[in-house]
Amino acid sequence: MGPVQIKQLLKDAQVGQSVVVKGWVRTKRESKNAIFIAINDGSTIHNIQAVAAPGEIPDDTLRLITTGSCLNVTGQLVESLGSGQAVEVKIESVEVYGTADPDHYPLQPKKHSLEFLREIAHLRPRTNTFGAILRLRHALAFAVHKYYNDNGFFYLHTPIITASDAEGAGEMFRVTTLDLYNPPKNEEGKIDFSEDFFGREANLTVSGQLEGELGALALSKIYTFGPTFRAENSNTTRHLAEFWMIEPEMAFFELEDNMDLAEDFVKYVISYALEHCADDLAFLEKRQAEEEKNKPQTERSMPLLEKLRFVVENPFERLTYTEAIEILLKCKPHKEKKFQYPVEWGIDLQSEHERYLVEKHFKKPVILTNYPREIKAFYMKLDEDGKTVRAMDVLFPGIGEIIGGSQREENYDKLLERVHEVGIEPENLWWYLETRQFGTAPHAGFGLGFERLVLFVSGMGNIRDVIPFPRYPKSAEF
Ligand code: 4AD
Ligand code: MG
Repeated sequence: MGPVQIKQLLKDAQVGQSVVVKGWVRTKRESKNAIFIAINDGSTIHNIQAVAAPGEIPDDTLRLITTGSCLNVTGQLVESLGSGQAVEVKIESVEVYGTADPDHYPLQPKKHSLEFLREIAHLRPRTNTFGAILRLRHALAFAVHKYYNDNGFFYLHTPIITASDAEGAGEMFRVTTLDLYNPPKNEEGKIDFSEDFFGREANLTVSGQLEGELGALALSKIYTFGPTFRAENSNTTRHLAEFWMIEPEMAFFELEDNMDLAEDFVKYVISYALEHCADDLAFLEKRQAEEEKNKPQTERSMPLLEKLRFVVENPFERLTYTEAIEILLKCKPHKEKKFQYPVEWGIDLQSEHERYLVEKHFKKPVILTNYPREIKAFYMKLDEDGKTVRAMDVLFPGIGEIIGGSQREENYDKLLERVHEVGIEPENLWWYLETRQFGTAPHAGFGLGFERLVLFVSGMGNIRDVIPFPRYPKSAEF
C-alpha cells in the first residue's frame, strides 16, 4: 500500500534495486560533480540522499527543488561514497509535487528557537526535533495500550463532557449551548441552565477517574487514555490546558498493588521506547547535550539514554509524606532558609520540595504516600489514624509529579462524610455513591500525565514542545 517508506527502504536496501522516494527536501547541495538532495518522509530521523550529475535534472525543475519542497523521485539504489549512509538514490527522474518558496518558507536549514517553532506549529513536525518527538510520542502511546492489553485491562472510553468535578478543584472549562451574551435568566436573575443542553452545568472533563471507577467495579481492571482539560491559568513548563491522561483503575487493588503497578507500567513504557526508538532517542540525546553545552558541568543533565536506563533498572524509592517532611526539615536548604515555602507537616509540597527529594536527596524516582487528608481529593481512602489518606504521588527528576493516585474510599458512610466535608452536593454524585451501596469493593487507581512522560523520555524542557498543538493561555491559533 502506497510507496515504501524511507525507514523500510534503508533497512531492506539492496544495491541495484529500482526505488521510488516521496518526501520533503531537507537540503540541496550542488558541487562541480554532483547535485545532492537530502529527502525525508517523516518515517525516520534519517534522510535518504538522492544524487544526480550536473545537467541530469532540467534547470527549471532544479530551481524548484529547495528546502521544504516535496518530491517524487525515481531511481536506482547505489552504494554511497559519502559517510553516514550505506546507500543513496541515483536519480532517474524527479517530479516536484509542491514547491516551498525560499523567501517565504520559514524552516530553512539552520537552528530555529523552540519559541519560534511554537508559532509555526503547522510546520514544526517537519523539523528533526519534532519528527523525533512525534514518533516517540506515538511509540509511548502504543506501549501504553500494549501494556494494559497484555495485563488484562480493558480500555474504557469515559466522557469528555461531564457534569462532575472529579478533583473538586474548580478549574474547569464550561460547556454550554446557551447564548452567554444574552442568557435566559430565572426569577432570581441568575442564568437559567435548565434551558441548556443538559439542563444543568456541564464541563470538559478534568479526569476520567470517577467513571473509571464504575468500570473497575464491573470489569475489574480498566484504563482510560484520553484528553483532559484544566482551565488553570498556569504558565509553567509542566502544565497544559489540554493534556492526555492515562488512568488505570483496578478492583481488589490496595495502595501497595497500586504502587507496584505504577512502577512496573512506567518502566515498561520507557523500556519500550528504548527498544523501539533508538535512533530518535540518540538524536534527542545529542540535541540535549548541544542545548546544555554552555552550562557548567554540575548543572548539566545526565545523558538521556543513561537517565532512561537508570530509571528502568533501579527500584523507585517509597516513603510516606510524613517521612518526606522529616527529611525536608532536616535538610540543608531548610536550615539555610533556601526553600521559598517553609516546610511543616500539613503543607502541600511545592515543586522545590519535590525536586529536593528526587534530585538532591534520593537521586531517583520517588513514590510518596499517605498524605494529609486536607490536601487530597475526597475519594481517597482514609488511613486508620484518620489524619492521612492512602494517596500516592510518583515524582520524577526534572519533572516533579508525573503520577497522582490512591486507594479509593469504598465505605459508603465514610465517603459520604468526605463529600459533605469538601462541600460537594451528594445529589450530584448519586451514581458514584451508589457503587458503594451495591457490591462495593476495595479498589485503587492512578493518573499518569502523558505529556509529562513524553517530556521526561524526550529530554525536552517544556511541555508545550511534546504535544503537536499545545493549548495554554494565549497559545498560538492552531
Ligand atoms: O494529580 P492529578 O490531578 O490526578 C487526577 O486527576 C486523578 N483523578 C488521577 C487518578 O487517580 N485517576 O493528575 C494526574 C496527573 C498528574 O500527576 C500530572 O502528571 C498530570 O496528570 N497533570 C497535568 N499534565 C499536564 N498539564 C496539567 N495541567 C496537568 N495536571 C495534571
Ligand atoms: Mg496530583
